[in-house]
Amino acid sequence: MTNSTPKPGNSPTDAAIASNRALWDEWAAIHAQSSWYNLDAVRAGADKLRPYEIDEIGDVTGLSLLHLQCQLGTDSVSWARRGAHVTGVDFSPVAVEIATDLARELGITAKFVCSDVMQLPENLTGAWDIVYASRGILGWLPDLGAWARVVAHFLKPGGIFYLTDMHPLARAIDPTSAELQLGGPYWHRPEPIRYEVRGSYAEPDAHVESADKFLWAHSTGDLLSGVAQAGLCLEFFHEFAWLDRPLPSLTKRAEREFLPPNGFELPLSFSLRARKL
Ligand SMILES: C[S@@+](CC[C@H](N)C(=O)[O-])C[C@H]1O[C@@H](n2cnc3c(N)ncnc32)[C@H](O)[C@@H]1O
Repeated sequence: MTNSTPKPGNSPTDAAIASNRALWDEWAAIHAQSSWYNLDAVRAGADKLRPYEIDEIGDVTGLSLLHLQCQLGTDSVSWARRGAHVTGVDFSPVAVEIATDLARELGITAKFVCSDVMQLPENLTGAWDIVYASRGILGWLPDLGAWARVVAHFLKPGGIFYLTDMHPLARAIDPTSAELQLGGPYWHRPEPIRYEVRGSYAEPDAHVESADKFLWAHSTGDLLSGVAQAGLCLEFFHEFAWLDRPLPSLTKRAEREFLPPNGFELPLSFSLRARKL
């Protein structure tokens, strides 16, 4: 495990990131005990990756994979078991410690780095075949263009960037309403949006000291333009009709697949692959 102290700063963005980091320290410890992340199943060999992402990335045997915002390392471990040489990154020291311990316990050679992803070029050197990030990524980022430049910085020429996450449109759905309705912004604005925290998505009844989380909206255009302007060549942007976590306005169709009621269709998740030429 490598540790780095975040740069001091007192802008609203810095304050929001510091607050989010404290929240993630709490959530990581809670999530490590949760049935959602089920670390015992991972220890017993469960693969946390979704079939579509395994297909879309392809064979990773012998390839180096940089996993951004890796949390407990459950996906990192799954890629390592498929033959990738994995480096995971997260800004929560608690998450990085849990991920490091999990890999060590399983005899998996993976390195975990504690850093704000935006400061990663100052804290990590090297170039990777694959830069990967999944499920719960974009909303925590104040500046998608700058983030995409970090991705490009760490890719080898010919290497691929793969991202799968909640669709920007789904992020605008009101997460508190039982009716399917829009509640948040779709377009980016520089100021973080404050949400009250109650428990976590994985443990809704857990006691959490942090009162707030701060998120940023990003449109689909921001994402695609950010990737292109970082010098990456888009290979596909796939949209999926399901979300992998529950919302009060969605109904469960299958494990980790929640859809609007009455056959109503919306893009709720996406996957994106781009290549550094
Ligand atoms: C929802 S998790 C995504 C990871 C993985 N898909 C999972 O579900 O375990 C989001 C992760 O992003 C990390 N994170 C949020 N903002 C970050 C930042 N600025 N730099 C590095 N990590 C960050 C959090 O600590 C958290 O572990």
